[in-house]
Amino acid sequence: MRSEAKKIIFGLIVLVFIIIFIFTIFFFTKKDSAEEINIYKETSNYKIDITYPITPISSINNKIKEMINNYRYKFINEIENKNIKYILNIKYDLTNYENLIFIHFEINNYSNFNSHTKTHITYYYDKKLNKEVNINNIILNKNILADLVNREMINYTIRGNLNFNNNIIRNKTKYKIGNYNNIILNNNGLEILFSNNDFNYLYPRNFKIIIPYSKLKGIIKDKYIKEKKYKYDFSYKRDLEQFKNKKLLAITFDDGPNYGTTDILLDELKKRDVKATFFVVGQNALNYPELVRREYLSGHQVGSHTFSHKQLTRLDSHELSEEVNYNNEIIKNITGKYPTLLRPPYGSFNDEVKRISDMYIILWNIDTLDWKNRNKDAVYNNIINEASDGDIILLHDLYQSSVEGVLMAIDKLKEEGFEFVTIDEMAKIKNNYFDKSNAYFNF
Ligand code: NI
Repeated sequence: MRSEAKKIIFGLIVLVFIIIFIFTIFFFTKKDSAEEINIYKETSNYKIDITYPITPISSINNKIKEMINNYRYKFINEIENKNIKYILNIKYDLTNYENLIFIHFEINNYSNFNSHTKTHITYYYDKKLNKEVNINNIILNKNILADLVNREMINYTIRGNLNFNNNIIRNKTKYKIGNYNNIILNNNGLEILFSNNDFNYLYPRNFKIIIPYSKLKGIIKDKYIKEKKYKYDFSYKRDLEQFKNKKLLAITFDDGPNYGTTDILLDELKKRDVKATFFVVGQNALNYPELVRREYLSGHQVGSHTFSHKQLTRLDSHELSEEVNYNNEIIKNITGKYPTLLRPPYGSFNDEVKRISDMYIILWNIDTLDWKNRNKDAVYNNIINEASDGDIILLHDLYQSSVEGVLMAIDKLKEEGFEFVTIDEMAKIKNNYFDKSNAYFNF
């Protein structure tokens, strides 16, 4: 009997400890997330669904309440005497970065069927100082920031083939009241959020421009700059013996680097121990030198895709030499090494290109058409259906669909016994000696 009682007491003590443990975990995980309020109302002609947080800062709480009341009032007025069902939806997300809490609201108003309006508002505060912060507490040099964002916006429209008007871009990126209301600092850098109706009603998405911390020195306060450091990945000196008698593929990425896709791709390639070849465009390399450095330090091969992606066969010899040599200098400045491989834009080359560049010309024999289809399944299928030993696969690290599609293909092809190597590795393993008078489509 006595031992029974002991067992029960022991059991109870264990139980108490478990409960304390669970509460402790609950308390610590709960601590950072603010309390939130939900307003939900549905009638025959409207639905309102609003969620917002209660922060420790009363001035912010007041602003949030006022903003929400304004939107509700406006919405109710707009739908009065209409008899279709209308919706107002307000939701938020929180970002926590270096003691700064960013509360970003997205307001969706479906009070007019022809133009669903999406609005963004961001409030932020310093958790440690326990006070509201505004952009002036973060940014040191507004005009340089505006220039940077303007340039990024123009790149973004060129890459996406968007017909945004340059005057509107200039106006929307200028540092003035009404602009820069939606900024967030996070691990990627400074994100500036734009909504669809900022530039063109026909463009259906919101989008953000990300400026990495490496470019924000002197532009935002030092204490907010947290730059990622990458170590040299020594696995780049791979023992190529392991690839002898294996089926090999060289995946190649053109037109990058690009923040938001290249960095994710590099993370994923690393997990899979896959090495690729990046043909970088000088303009983008100047924008994101840290990504090129990371490519190189991770054991991938960095080749040239010229400075500004012009069709080389249309240039005179002086321009041609500038396009090639300027990019080679940029890459050398970043990696410490001149690239040896050239992928001419549009695959377009002639004897003049060979002579003046004095580099090895690398083309491809599998075209995923990823820039056109922008569809991960199409990218995947185009690779899977054609891959055979010695192939060179063309992709672009500008699109999320390319990254997702190629990763799916890599996983599948690895199961089938394929290995992924850089162009130089492929040539060495296949005992293929490069010749500058040739152009290489596969090995
Ligand atoms: Ni290209």
